[in-house]
Amino acid sequence: MSQELFPVPAEWATRARMNEDRRMADHKRSLEDADSYWLEQAARLNWMSPPSKASESSFDEADFGISWFADGTLNVSVNCLDRHLADHGDSVAIIWEPDDPAETPRRLTYRQLHHAVCRFANVLKDAGARKGDRVTLYLPMIPEAAIALLACARIGAIHSVVFGGFSPEALAGRITDCDSTILVTADEGRRGGKRVPLKANVDAALAMDHCTSIHRVIVVQATGGAIDMQPGRDIWYHDVMAGVVSDCPPEPMNACDPLFLLYTSGSTGKPKGVVHGSGGYLLWASLTHELCFDYRPGDVYWCAADIGWVTGHSYIVYGPLANGATTLMYEGLPSWPTPSRIWQVVDRHQVHTLFTAPTVLRALMKEGDDFVTATDRSSLRLLGSVGEPINPEAWRWYHAIAGEGRCPIIDTWWQTETGAAMIAPMPGATALKPGSATFPLPGVEPQIVDGEGVVQQGPCEGNLVIARSWPGQMQTVWNDHDRFFQTYFSTFPGTYTTGDGARRDADGYYWITGRVDDVINVSGHRMGTAEVESALVLHAKVAEAAVVGFPHDIKGQGIYAYVTLNMGEEPSDSLRRALVQWVRAEIGPIATPDVIQFAPGLPKTRSGKIMRRILRKIAEGDVSAQALGDISTLADPTVVKELVRTRAIVP
Ligand code: WTA
Repeated sequence: MSQELFPVPAEWATRARMNEDRRMADHKRSLEDADSYWLEQAARLNWMSPPSKASESSFDEADFGISWFADGTLNVSVNCLDRHLADHGDSVAIIWEPDDPAETPRRLTYRQLHHAVCRFANVLKDAGARKGDRVTLYLPMIPEAAIALLACARIGAIHSVVFGGFSPEALAGRITDCDSTILVTADEGRRGGKRVPLKANVDAALAMDHCTSIHRVIVVQATGGAIDMQPGRDIWYHDVMAGVVSDCPPEPMNACDPLFLLYTSGSTGKPKGVVHGSGGYLLWASLTHELCFDYRPGDVYWCAADIGWVTGHSYIVYGPLANGATTLMYEGLPSWPTPSRIWQVVDRHQVHTLFTAPTVLRALMKEGDDFVTATDRSSLRLLGSVGEPINPEAWRWYHAIAGEGRCPIIDTWWQTETGAAMIAPMPGATALKPGSATFPLPGVEPQIVDGEGVVQQGPCEGNLVIARSWPGQMQTVWNDHDRFFQTYFSTFPGTYTTGDGARRDADGYYWITGRVDDVINVSGHRMGTAEVESALVLHAKVAEAAVVGFPHDIKGQGIYAYVTLNMGEEPSDSLRRALVQWVRAEIGPIATPDVIQFAPGLPKTRSGKIMRRILRKIAEGDVSAQALGDISTLADPTVVKELVRTRAIVP
């Protein structure tokens, strides 16, 4: 743990809304006088009928439920669009930077965005979408993605965004789980000069026997590439947009009505549909965006995430637009066509705040400082980090080289389930320590518990739990409320279990140490090891598979798969390559195994449980007797020796 302390820069101390005293006083009040604090905060939003209640949530099994602002009514799109029109309808809502730097960026003012959203909302209605229906979005990073999100919000349809890098198989699973009836996609996506065959993937997904709920596919023409359109099912976005009116009254939504669902990985093989509500979620996205990034009119704010992940939902679309910000959307990759690209985009649009992931920083760091220093970057005032623990080395590089020492680093810890940031610094308030997400935001009550659930005091390390509900908390798992309770509230009763480990130092700073469950974080993408295992065992030659993460310089964690073949099958390099391709096709390129080790047997306890602890150590290359620990409880201890021996021949 680095104890280096970076104080609040003078520029931020005078500019920021928050200072350290106010931060502490707010946090105290948010816990001690929660109802009045949250009802006051609710005034950030524009309500059709304001709430008289704040939280009525309970983590106890008897009266379990998550509920915020239960008697309030609002519409999320009104909060992100309509209410800004009178005062700054002509200010830019979205700047779109294309993949290819030779192309012209697009700019949409709040008025133009409002217009497009209302029209597309009418298109969705014409396609049969009603309040509560699920609409799946499988789109590249183009403004139409934001338009589609907000159009769903306008009519109360629940959007489910599927990341454009997911395979047809993964897309079909996510469509079927929530029975969505409408799908919005594009002909192709573009990333780093390459085309992503989105519509072809959609066709493949919808051809699967179990994927039958979609009756309408709306296709945005993004590249003009050749695709098939199925008559009666597929329609062009530009055709239908031309034929609708731009008046679309917003649907009144209860604060607890679902706004969206987003599938995420957990310890089991099947991703779960995380459900977020309307009022609490939007309040949380908007409040945390303000506290963490202290947005001011005129600033250009860039969250370089993808809309396919929660970061894109909360910090490209909902948070910034609720706050009337100018949000930059980038179609491409941070290092294409050159490792300078991310900084060139900063210069081109005079970006004030850049929010990205540690894996991006580590990859850029490796390319050398010249790619950074060749650019100007004088517009930058604030830098953010999200998605995985940021190692102090990357932190210092981001701070010293990218930000020239003048930009605070806002390291935001949170999860799909939490809706938006939970533990994070505020630029005018918090002295920073490289690698620490610092302190909880208002209303967040973190605790560190030991394996038995005993709350630790003072400096300590253990499991990170949250002791009370906050407005952005997910409300349920789609179609499986019981799984919601079992997954998050049964391990350490009375608290929300994050699945992360954390340390707290003597100054009260929090340091996230990474997942303590079978979830791994590859390049900031969250993945269940069980998902990769399920994909592998679907292969005809595979009998069994066990997947663990191992430390990776750039990705944070890599994917290490132990594969046992069926009797009579021979390990070979070509089979290894075939299995890698197989997983890419089943899940998507983000799940590409880095290493496949053929294993004649896996270390199991006598009750048949795979001892992952041992597999992790072997994957890390730490095969000392001390590292492997006690293997006497294994059904067959010789398996370990064999794994250690064959590890040496893994390419
Ligand atoms: C990890 C992404 C350390 C963590 C917003 C969490 C982090 C998981 C940080 C959630 C951070 C995210 N420091 N770890 N600043 N941010 N994580 O659902 O393990 O895709 O549980 O949400 O990412 O990933 P998810």
